[in-house]
Amino acid sequence: MSTRRLKVVLDKDTTYDIRVGNRLLTNLGVHLREATDATKAVLITDSNVGPLYLEKARAGLSKAGFEVFDLVVSAGEESKDIAVAAELWDALAMLGIGRDGMIVGLGGGVVGDLAGFVASTYMRGIECALVPTSLLAMVDASIGGKTAVNLSSGKNLVGTFKQPIYVAADLETLRTLPAAEWENGFAEVAKSALLDGTDFYQWLIDNTGALLAHDEAAAQQAIVQSLTFKARVVAHDVKEKGERECLNYGHTFAHALEAASKYRIPHGRAVAEGMRFAARLATEAADSPETFGEAQDVLIDALGLKPVAETFSADELYEWMFADKKVRNSELRFVFVSAPGKWETVAVDPDLVKIYLILWEQARM
Ligand SMILES: NC(=O)c1ccc[n+]([C@@H]2O[C@H](COP(=O)([O-])OP(=O)(O)OC[C@H]3O[C@@H](n4cnc5c(N)ncnc54)[C@H](O)[C@@H]3O)[C@@H](O)[C@H]2O)c1
Repeated sequence: MSTRRLKVVLDKDTTYDIRVGNRLLTNLGVHLREATDATKAVLITDSNVGPLYLEKARAGLSKAGFEVFDLVVSAGEESKDIAVAAELWDALAMLGIGRDGMIVGLGGGVVGDLAGFVASTYMRGIECALVPTSLLAMVDASIGGKTAVNLSSGKNLVGTFKQPIYVAADLETLRTLPAAEWENGFAEVAKSALLDGTDFYQWLIDNTGALLAHDEAAAQQAIVQSLTFKARVVAHDVKEKGERECLNYGHTFAHALEAASKYRIPHGRAVAEGMRFAARLATEAADSPETFGEAQDVLIDALGLKPVAETFSADELYEWMFADKKVRNSELRFVFVSAPGKWETVAVDPDLVKIYLILWEQARM
């Protein structure tokens, strides 16, 4: 399988390469040499990914002459925490990392968000490269430059914009990804296809079987299409002042669900449920056709993402929604899609949102 290459171009000074293919961990150092003058590389990974891929990444970087260090955090959303970030800052200082150092985030979206946050704040910012190893991180989290940690009062409430200098999605790492994590990734692929429009949407409908079978060529194509779409959106709106908001489709509800479940419900599953919720709300709040929500349900079901069975009270979800970054002037803002490729952002009357949250809760009783 040949490696596919994409270039993200944000402005004349901010461009970076993405590679999606095989043997990218082995060649990590060689490819990074083209992107940086750093001499030290600090791999940040988690306790699941580290034992599987740290040695290969270390060897790939050492071979290209980098002095290599590694720092391992516990796997799971709990690591997106300011206390964990502080431990990493201290560890970097103890290792003597200065501006000649670079961070390499090796793992899923949690590691990417945390490593990016640490890189953008340590010494007012050092370089960061990302090696996403979950499908979700390959199709979405690894590009666009958003970094974050969670607060007890809400998800992703502290963060920065920090563009990586290079992204390598090594498809071989997907061979160890648990099936449930593939499904989490499918939720973001579906989101991108629904926002992008007919070609990608139709491709996804035609390829659900191959993706469910974890076919590597189909995965590569899904990653490339998702990243191409996201790179285009981000290039138009780096700091989320307009068009980039579409990437939050399903996320107003999803972030509330993740927080209410204390992150037991993972991001991808929550996004799938959030897209279902948004499509229902949109029939009343934006006159979207019911047929769109039904077609979306068919696609999400086909990707193995069953509706969330666990229930949370409408009151609790409502409160979490108001903690979200997308609240402006006390208005709840939702991205609504009415047909593949057709979306808008709408400020919805909070009372109407409450009614739909009650309906969501009742449907689970
Ligand atoms: N910055 C962004 O633009 C952006 C976009 C979307 C999501 N996110 C964030 O990403 C996070 C979710 O990412 P995620 O779903 O990758 O979660 P994750 O990082 O927790 O990874 C999921 C699980 O899979 C394991 N894993 C990862 N790669 C593996 C591999 N190759 N083999 C075996 N196990 C592997 C991890 O250790 C973890 O247990 C959330 O915090 C979300 O907010 C960020």
